[in-house]
Amino acid sequence: MPLVFTVIKECDAGERRVAATPETVSKLTKQNHVVRVERGAGFTAGFSDTDYETAGANMMATAAEAINGAQLVLKIASPTDAQTTLFTAGQTLICRLDGEGAAATAQTLTQAGVTLFALERLPRITRAQTMDVLSSQANLSGYKAVLDAAAHYDRSLPMMMTAAGTVPAARVFIMGVGVAGLQAIATARRLGAIVWATDVRPSTKEEVESLGARFVAVEDEEFKQAQTAGGYAKEMSAAYQQKQQQLIAETIIKQDIVITTALIPGRPAPKLISAGMVNSMKRGTVIIDLAAETGGNCELCVRGQTIVTDNGVTIVGNVNVPSRLANAASHLYARNILAFINLITTDDTLNFDTEDEIINATMVAKDGFWRVPKGAR
Ligand code: NAI
Repeated sequence: MPLVFTVIKECDAGERRVAATPETVSKLTKQNHVVRVERGAGFTAGFSDTDYETAGANMMATAAEAINGAQLVLKIASPTDAQTTLFTAGQTLICRLDGEGAAATAQTLTQAGVTLFALERLPRITRAQTMDVLSSQANLSGYKAVLDAAAHYDRSLPMMMTAAGTVPAARVFIMGVGVAGLQAIATARRLGAIVWATDVRPSTKEEVESLGARFVAVEDEEFKQAQTAGGYAKEMSAAYQQKQQQLIAETIIKQDIVITTALIPGRPAPKLISAGMVNSMKRGTVIIDLAAETGGNCELCVRGQTIVTDNGVTIVGNVNVPSRLANAASHLYARNILAFINLITTDDTLNFDTEDEIINATMVAKDGFWRVPKGAR
């Protein structure tokens, strides 16, 4: 018997992506799986129902019809309350479970006997790279952040030499050099800006310099230890934060564009730019806060809004930035999910082998119970 996959519409405000594209549907149907797609699911990402039909999908009029009897449901974000009621015991849902309201949804689905895979829990190991939705989407966010900054900035990023004189290159400061930050450095450099960057993880210094940017950080003993075994940033001590703030304050005052991407998993975003620092900035400076969704790296950032301060600094707090490149973001997300499906299926059987590090880390619910991954503390 073939496996039956289903793809339903994303319903969160501002969400334009879709979890499967005609390309990935075609790959699944060629593996003899059945793929159902709710009508209109790909529309906002630039994929028509006809594109999916051509790829071999069965188009369904409603989410209820699409989910009924399917074994695996593919989504970007956790389902809405209405979608949640459509699931039955034994079905499997693959999506991110870290958004707003996701914890309550996960609880309801767990009690209903749905198997849940949370993609944000993928370990950052080489074998999981093809499935890594955090990386694929963060990459696009970093790129888009620079374009957003350029759109709000009333001068040029590259130096321009004209008969009427020279316009200097923009000075860009990237705060947080994970996947998004590295892409932001590369994009800003390609556009001709002079780039500085900071991070609390010492390993980023070399990465920053290899991209032609300059590294700014307080490089003391604490900094040398500031990375978890999983490669994430640790929360820094108050003393370190104070020293770092001082250095940042001196650096930020000279910038034209600041892009912040600093996150600490499971915690509110660290505050890196105080109101005082914003007040010290030049008129026309642009701050793009990619951490707006988890509280913002800038004290004055307003989630989902663009504001201009009295001293003429623009602070952009866009949320769900990958959705603003919905077509490219869906292509990458869908390929990540396809790679994950290839891990958890063997021909037409589901293979939830919890001895596998990736499956162990991502399978958060099974048979009516919330599951703590083996080895997790
Ligand atoms: P993230 O989105 O969790 O955080 C963004 C950046 O903010 C990080 O570089 C972090 O160190 C930095 N940050 C946190 N607090 C800060 C502070 N107070 N000041 C300045 N910067 C601060 O990071 P992301 O992009 O998810 O990457 C996390 C780790 O995973 C990195 O080590 C990355 O290289 C690694 N990774 C590994 C992959 C693999 O397959 N091996 C794939 C993707 C990422």
